Amino acid sequence: MLDTIEVLVTRVIAEAQGVKSWELAREDGSPLPSFTAGAHIDLKLANGLVRSYSLCNSQDEANRYLIAVNNDPQSRGGSKFIHDMLGLGDLVSISAPRNHFPLVEDAGHVVFVAGGIGITPIYSMIQRLEALGRSWELHYSARTKEMCAFRSQFEVLEQRRPGRVHFNFDHEPGGRMIDLKDVLAKSDANAHFYCCGPAPMLQAFEDAAKALGLPSPQIHVEYFTAMQEAATDGGFTVELARSKRSFFVSAGKTILETLLDNDVDVPSSCTQGFCGTCETAVIEGIPDHRDSVLSSEDQATNRTMMICCSGSKSEKLVLDL
Ligand code: FES
Repeated sequence: MLDTIEVLVTRVIAEAQGVKSWELAREDGSPLPSFTAGAHIDLKLANGLVRSYSLCNSQDEANRYLIAVNNDPQSRGGSKFIHDMLGLGDLVSISAPRNHFPLVEDAGHVVFVAGGIGITPIYSMIQRLEALGRSWELHYSARTKEMCAFRSQFEVLEQRRPGRVHFNFDHEPGGRMIDLKDVLAKSDANAHFYCCGPAPMLQAFEDAAKALGLPSPQIHVEYFTAMQEAATDGGFTVELARSKRSFFVSAGKTILETLLDNDVDVPSSCTQGFCGTCETAVIEGIPDHRDSVLSSEDQATNRTMMICCSGSKSEKLVLDL
């Protein structure tokens, strides 16, 4: 994590079964760096982990960030630590917000699909579209009503203008998985479509969009787990153009691990290719892209890469480091 900001936990609220929100603000209450809907911040936790979380409040709020975290039983240490250890009045270091999941604000209509805690960036986007008076609809899946974060807020929005919010509780009696092909097929084909949720839902969403022939610029997804295995075959050299050092990446290691092993300080967070923290400019060579941050068009240019998970198709990669 490069530049950090010290913030205070000013509120913790239980939002649903297993989900709490944390409000973060400067100690003196002064404004934080601005953000746009869909942005995330990194939290540097006291156990040494760095984890990314989407901001779920309105981008019009200058003095606070709101994150919501699911106490995931599969946690690699981040969400469990936050639930167990991050309390009211605690100080925490965060990064400034970055946005790899931007909202098209002038779309004629926006269709949102959220699964579980994937609602967080989408909740911020919906607040933005409400503020702009734009057209949207939400298809929000959770296992049960009790596990559905921000449900009462969406119920208020639905009362304000009915027909926009569609809940799906797949573990309730008679419940079943949301049929994304059906959702997308019934929507305006000129709309923009956003999905954030678990990997199988994202895959089903992308498959449905492809099967229906929806143009890729109208399809927007955000992964918060790895989409592919990291490239660890090794067998290539990484040259750092600015520091004029080079390293051989051995089998079993990623580029990031190789650099950290050699005391090269590079920022990273998720280490799984979905947060964008380790994005690095490529000067020469052909990366083996494994991330879920860059679009396939961006990957094809080979101008940047995520060094935590992507490898090399060429014998040498020259990086702008
Ligand atoms: S550290 Fe998150 S994409 Fe590389």
